[in-house]
Amino acid sequence: MSNSSKKIGVIGSGLIGRSYTMLFISAGYRVTLYDILPEQTQSAKKDIWEQLGALEREGLLRGTLTRQQQFDLISTTQNLEECVKDAFFVQECVPENLEIKRSVWFKVDKLVDNNVILSSSTSALLPSVISEGLEYKNRFIVSHPTNPPFYAPATEVVPASWTDADVKEKTIALLKEVGQVPVVLNKEIKGFVLNRIQYSILGECYRLIRDGVVSPEDVDTIMSQGLGVRYAFMGPWETAYLNANGMLHYGELYSDMILGIQQDLGPPERMEGPTLEAVNEAMRKLAGPEETIPARRQWRDRRLTALAKLKKEMDKADGEGSK
Ligand SMILES: NC(=O)c1ccc[n+]([C@@H]2O[C@H](COP(=O)([O-])OP(=O)(O)OC[C@H]3O[C@@H](n4cnc5c(N)ncnc54)[C@H](O)[C@@H]3O)[C@@H](O)[C@H]2O)c1
Repeated sequence: MSNSSKKIGVIGSGLIGRSYTMLFISAGYRVTLYDILPEQTQSAKKDIWEQLGALEREGLLRGTLTRQQQFDLISTTQNLEECVKDAFFVQECVPENLEIKRSVWFKVDKLVDNNVILSSSTSALLPSVISEGLEYKNRFIVSHPTNPPFYAPATEVVPASWTDADVKEKTIALLKEVGQVPVVLNKEIKGFVLNRIQYSILGECYRLIRDGVVSPEDVDTIMSQGLGVRYAFMGPWETAYLNANGMLHYGELYSDMILGIQQDLGPPERMEGPTLEAVNEAMRKLAGPEETIPARRQWRDRRLTALAKLKKEMDKADGEGSK
């Protein structure tokens, strides 16, 4: 059976709903995109058409189908039943609010059967908390993408304790098929992995500003001209491994020092008040005032596109495929 006879329902057509739609159509799946706001699905289609065009121009369109062939696989609806009917996979992308998510999933639960996969894009809500009480909670899983998914393919896959094994396996297979790189969590944990790491970084960056150690601009320089340069293609463990003669040697050299610094880091703090205002002022100078953020996002996305292209070329040259 070709993918074009298989249907995926996407609920919510904002930033992430659009991205997932683009990923699924790249592998030839039919997608029915649903939103409570009709103008959202309309603007999603326009946006997807433009994004597909830009990807095609850069040679970054995924799969073998043309822009038009991919686009023709999308239909939109304002009817939830139409969205999920006959879908083998449902990807929910509604706002990060437990009440909204549970209300959507309880409606979907009444419209599906035990063969479907029910997947949420939530960034931090636990799958067991969203799916508790659903008749088909055994079919529920989280597939949390990194934004923007087309250029940052790592996707956290988080099953609840009651998720069927085949749901996990099929979700991983689908994500790989559309070009994502799934990372499976062995158990659910607040913030999953990506945001635990991201917020640890943000927390220490905040303390360094509050304590007057360094300016907000210089914190960003340390990341963009230092740590981040390596992190664009290798993780902290490989970085450490290469910074000594292997991990055990790294431990001998640095474990005491690292422990000492970690013990000095200080407790978590809410980001607010004068420190947050100072960071905002610095970012207004660095990235432009708030009203210019959409233009700056386009600047970011051009760079991400160039980086994705470079990584693809280098992977090809290394014979590493999509690593
Ligand atoms: N934006 C990110 O960087 C990012 C990254 C990873 C995961 N996520 C997660 O993805 C999910 C969606 O985030 P987003 O950034 O796309 O949000 P968004 O605000 O861009 O889009 C949400 C969409 O859901 C629609 N919606 C609201 N209530 C609805 C309902 N009851 N039924 C159907 N549609 C409804 C809205 O009209 C809107 O179009 C959230 O859980 C978020 O945490 C976001």
